[in-house]
Amino acid sequence: MCGIVGAVAQRNIVPVLIEGLRRLEYRGYDSCGVAVVTSEGPARVRSVSRVAELDEQARESHFEGVTGIAHTRWATHGAPTVNNAHPIFSRNALAIVHNGIIENYEALREALRAKGYEFVSQTDTEVIAHLIHSLYKGDLFSAVREAVQQLAGAYAIGVVHKDQPHTVVGARAGSPLVVGLGSGENFLASDALAIAGSASHVVYLEEGDVCELTLEGVRIAERGGSEVQREAREVLAYGGTVELGPYRHYMQKEIFEQPGAIGNTIPATDTFEPELFGANAREVFKGIDSILILACGTSYYAGVTAKYWLESVAKIRTEVEIASEYRYRESVPNPRALVVTISQSGETADTLAALKHAQSLGMEHTLAVCNVATSHMVRLTELNFLTHAGREIGVASTKAFTTQLVGLFILAVTLGKLRGHVSAEQEAQYLKLLRHLPAALNGVLALEPQIIAWADEFARKENALFLGRGLHYPIALEGALKLKEISYIHAEAYPAGELKHGPLALVTEAMPVVTVAPNDALLEKLKSNMQEVRARGGELYVFADADTHITSEDGIHVIRMPEHYGLLSPILHVVPLQLLAYHTACARGTDVDKPRNLAKSVTVE
Ligand code: M6R
Repeated sequence: MCGIVGAVAQRNIVPVLIEGLRRLEYRGYDSCGVAVVTSEGPARVRSVSRVAELDEQARESHFEGVTGIAHTRWATHGAPTVNNAHPIFSRNALAIVHNGIIENYEALREALRAKGYEFVSQTDTEVIAHLIHSLYKGDLFSAVREAVQQLAGAYAIGVVHKDQPHTVVGARAGSPLVVGLGSGENFLASDALAIAGSASHVVYLEEGDVCELTLEGVRIAERGGSEVQREAREVLAYGGTVELGPYRHYMQKEIFEQPGAIGNTIPATDTFEPELFGANAREVFKGIDSILILACGTSYYAGVTAKYWLESVAKIRTEVEIASEYRYRESVPNPRALVVTISQSGETADTLAALKHAQSLGMEHTLAVCNVATSHMVRLTELNFLTHAGREIGVASTKAFTTQLVGLFILAVTLGKLRGHVSAEQEAQYLKLLRHLPAALNGVLALEPQIIAWADEFARKENALFLGRGLHYPIALEGALKLKEISYIHAEAYPAGELKHGPLALVTEAMPVVTVAPNDALLEKLKSNMQEVRARGGELYVFADADTHITSEDGIHVIRMPEHYGLLSPILHVVPLQLLAYHTACARGTDVDKPRNLAKSVTVE
């Protein structure tokens, strides 16, 4: 999603700004641009193509400057056109880049029009540009501090003005922004990744902060207006681009990295202790009486799976809510609940807002299951469990999901043990199951050639149904989401028992029905549901555990999974669904790693 990079230096900073955009590219965007300060006003180049094309434009036109701001835009207000691409100007004096959404932009636009400002884009960002311009009296830092008081919504901004050629001002509320400290030069970015290497240290701005970067240093003012010092943390050098190796796409690479990612996520301890979640987790866990999980998309499905584990293993009441719904719903807060947020990026705006909402309702015990140690979410929560999936570049989440499941399973067993529901013997069995998981996953990944054969058939379909039961219902949901988001085939998932309550009407010979069939307590029920589909001519594509003895016959295609893997079976069963979506998308020729309209990290509402 949108990305910001800014810098003030004594050298041509354009290559650094463009390199920063390149590092943020994987998050998804539909236009990009860069502006530098010149004595005649800001100058810019913009593109609705890739950052590489922006770079080419900049090189060809010898576009250079010592102070500048750059942006990748994921359109919210106004189509992805060059005219709407950031940086956005105000009266050829000021340039701004903006992540987020300004909710009161219409009222502000009318007020600014009345003052004679002309609007040339469809963006909400242009109101911020003109607003700051209207308040500018020779000090950009003051003008921005004044302007942000009038903004409602979420923003992270970077601003430059022609009369202050060695100054960049930034501000944030609701969208992340960091300041980077270099030697004799300073930086601004929506993610430390963009400036790592150029900046040796970063400062994470807090809600409502406004900062001023000059060659001499950095000033930060908090929401109340007074200047503050914020802790500077060392930033690790940028790890470079992630090589694809033998894979066609990052998604395929990330699917195949799952055994390693899971191995890295399982702690090296021999027992499940609360301290895996933070120093004071034991005390927190003893005081809680329920769990509230908040997440979006694939991370939400990890939460739905975890509910089954938490209630069956730890016997603790668990609710799972879609973060974007929870934040606006009137709910009954329980101060004794542990709020668990799940996120790959740790920057998803809806999940962060839901977390803050829960905290504002008095739920102070919070735990993040997250893949990014330095993320906003990890910094906001009392406890955390870091998944060690490594960088996930494909928009479709794969290894982040399975490592989240590992973290959530460990949480369930840890709580179960603490609450007296998991014996030492069971604990040892769960640990054994976890430790063997990477090897078991390798067995599932070896099914790829059989899945490719199915994918060729799916590529010709426009609809698909996914069925699962119990612990595997969320896995069916995740399989359907994967297929939709990268192959653009319409897919729905149902708990198989629900079929006859409506969706069975959709079943004809043209409808492939993917069935997740583990050898668990619900197998016989599931087999009856499969018969309901066959009786209506539906074609079944079944991922069946070897010990189910389900075999291929007319209208029933079977891929044989390993033998049933107990409570961790969902982690094995999601993998063939990821592969099916991936190969179907390849067969349809879609942009697998950057599917249309989607972004990797959804930092706006
Ligand atoms: O970074 P997060 O885990 O918070 O992201 C949540 C969703 O946006 C994400 O899982 C999304 O649904 C994926 N594209 C699904 O593959």
